[in-house]
Formats: sequence, structure tokens, C-alpha cells
Amino acid sequence: MSDFVRIVEVGPRDGLQNEKQQVATADKIALIDRLSATGLRTIEATSFVSPKWVPQLADAAGVMAGIQRRPGIAYPVLVPNEQGYARALAAGAREVAVFTAASEQFNRTNTNAGIDESLQRFAPVLARAQADGIPVRGYVSTVLGCPYQGEVPLADVVRVARALHAMGCHEISLGDTIGVGTPLKARAMLRAVAAEVPLAALAVHFHDTYGQALANIAACLEDGVRVVDSAVAGTGGCPYARGASGNVASEDVVYMLHGMGMETGIDLPALADTGRWLAGVLGRDNGSKAGKAMTPH
Ligand code: HMG
Ligand code: MG
Repeated sequence: MSDFVRIVEVGPRDGLQNEKQQVATADKIALIDRLSATGLRTIEATSFVSPKWVPQLADAAGVMAGIQRRPGIAYPVLVPNEQGYARALAAGAREVAVFTAASEQFNRTNTNAGIDESLQRFAPVLARAQADGIPVRGYVSTVLGCPYQGEVPLADVVRVARALHAMGCHEISLGDTIGVGTPLKARAMLRAVAAEVPLAALAVHFHDTYGQALANIAACLEDGVRVVDSAVAGTGGCPYARGASGNVASEDVVYMLHGMGMETGIDLPALADTGRWLAGVLGRDNGSKAGKAMTPH
């Protein structure tokens, strides 16, 4: 099994989308440009969702226009529907991600649509993307618990992941949106999905609300997952998920992976430096323990 783990840096999107204070477009661009210099291969840049729903990312086109794209790095963006897809392509996006959930009420609160309705919305997006040669990632939220219904049956997670994969999503990211999962449950969830969708097409996306994210990632790595979502400085959370706190910090994930002898291609000191810079820009405590520990004296 490969020792290379691809980190999908979601800080500029998941990390910033929940920030109450408007972050300057120039700072978002500077964040992505700094991240581009750390060895990351995938940086989720922004979202082309409704600006009424997520005002923080209303400048998505400006961000895409301002960043310096480096060869070999993908800059995917979130799109909720055809309108978002059209905006994303007009702004120069070359990879996109669609998102739905394993629990009905969360998906309604997040996207004003039931799960099946959201899958129907994605069908024309996937058809256009296929014609345009644009890879599409699919997110499944609430895979280990929902802020409204509580427990989420594994069968529901599997059904939605399988549907996204069957529609043509090349990668399925399994999101513990509110960070309630624990390692054995995370692994059981991954195994259930991997019975229906190839493991190589799966990614894990843990929020760290209960401090379980690194342990959950370690458990899933043992089962062979090799794509991990994380956010520099541990920023983030979904504005429509009550109680959702930050994503697992990229610096902490990379520190753990390197300590396990795995490769990421990432320059950890450069990533940690970017995390400290971002915490300063946002005026908040750095959510990465590794980033804090690596502060130069
Ligand atoms: P809606 O209000 O039902 O949409 O929202 P609508 O189709 O009825 O349109 C209403 C208005 O929105 C119209 O404008 C549309 O033009 C506009 P008006 O005529 O009123 O002026 N509109 C748009 N504008 C720009 N871009 C668009 C767009 N679509 C419609 N793409 C919608 C439905 C899905 C659009 C809305 O609910 C939405 O944008 N939701 C996004 C919420 C969001 O971004 N949540 C966070 C991301 S998901 C997440 O964080 C989880 C994840 O990290 C994994 C995990 O942790 O689990 C991925
Ligand atoms: Mg998330």
C-alpha cells in the first residue's frame, strides 16, 4: 500500500466560510498563494454558493482571478447547483465539488433541498462537467452524526456515497461535519462505504469538535485511506451545522503522517508558518498544536 497521503487543504473554503468578520479578498489570495508554496497538491480555493447564504465567500470570482496557479496543483471549488457551476467555470475553475449529506434535515438546512433533490440538482452539473473535462468531487456530510437527527445509519451514508460515485464523482469525501465521531466508528463507517465504492476513491474529512479527528484519521489510514482533508491553523466549520467547530489542522495531520513514516510532499515548517500568519490575519488563536509548537523563538 502506498505511503503517500494526499492532503486536500480546505482552509480557504471550509476554514473561512464560517468567519463572521469579512476577510479581505487580498488576504484570501495571499493565503492560497502561500499554501501553493508548501508542496500541497490540492487546495480547495472557495465556493460558488449563494452569496446570501455564505456572504464570506461572495468574492469567489475575485479570489480565483487573483491567485497564482502553479502547475501540478489543483484548485477545486464548491458548487451547489448549475448556477454555481457556470460561475465557477467563468471564473476559471478547472475542478469542482458538489455536496450533500447523509441526513435529511441537515441537508435541508444547508442547501434548502432534501438529499434526493440535491442529487437531482447535481445530475446536470455532472453532465456538463463530463463534457467540459472537469473532475467533480462529491462530499457526503454528517457521516458520523447529525446536529438534528443525532445518529446516522451507516446504510444512509453508503447510499449517498454510492449515488455520488455512480453519477461520476471521481472522489467521495466523507465528512464528520460536527466532529462527533470516534475511531472505531469512523473505521466502521469507512469500511461500510468501501464495500460499495473503491477505497482509492474515498477521502476523509474530520472536524475536530470533540478532539477526535487525528485519532479518527489514524484509524482510517490503517484501513488504507490515502486522501485526507484538513485546514491550515484548524480553522473552519459549516455555518449551517450547529456546534460545528474547526477542521482538523493540516499542520497536525502532516506532523502525524511524517511521524508515521508517510509522505505528503509538504514542507511542514512552511505550512506551519502559513498557519501562524493566518491566525494573525484572523486575529485568533492558532488552532494547530503543531503550528504553535513549531513557533520560532
Ligand atoms: P435557494 O435559496 O434554495 O436557491 O438556495 P434558489 O435556487 O431558490 O435561488 C435563490 C436565489 O439564490 C436566487 O437569487 C439565485 O439566483 C441565487 P435571487 O433571484 O433571489 O436574487 N443563487 C445563487 N447565486 C449565486 N451562486 C449560486 C446560486 N444558487 C442560487 N450558486 C443554495 C439553494 C444551494 C444555492 C443555497 O442553499 C446555498 O448556497 N447553500 C450553500 C450553503 C453552504 O455553502 N454551506 C457550506 C458548505 S458545505 C460544508 O461546509 C460541509 C463540507 O465541509 C463537508 C462536511 O464538513 O461535512 C463540504
Ligand atoms: Mg467541512
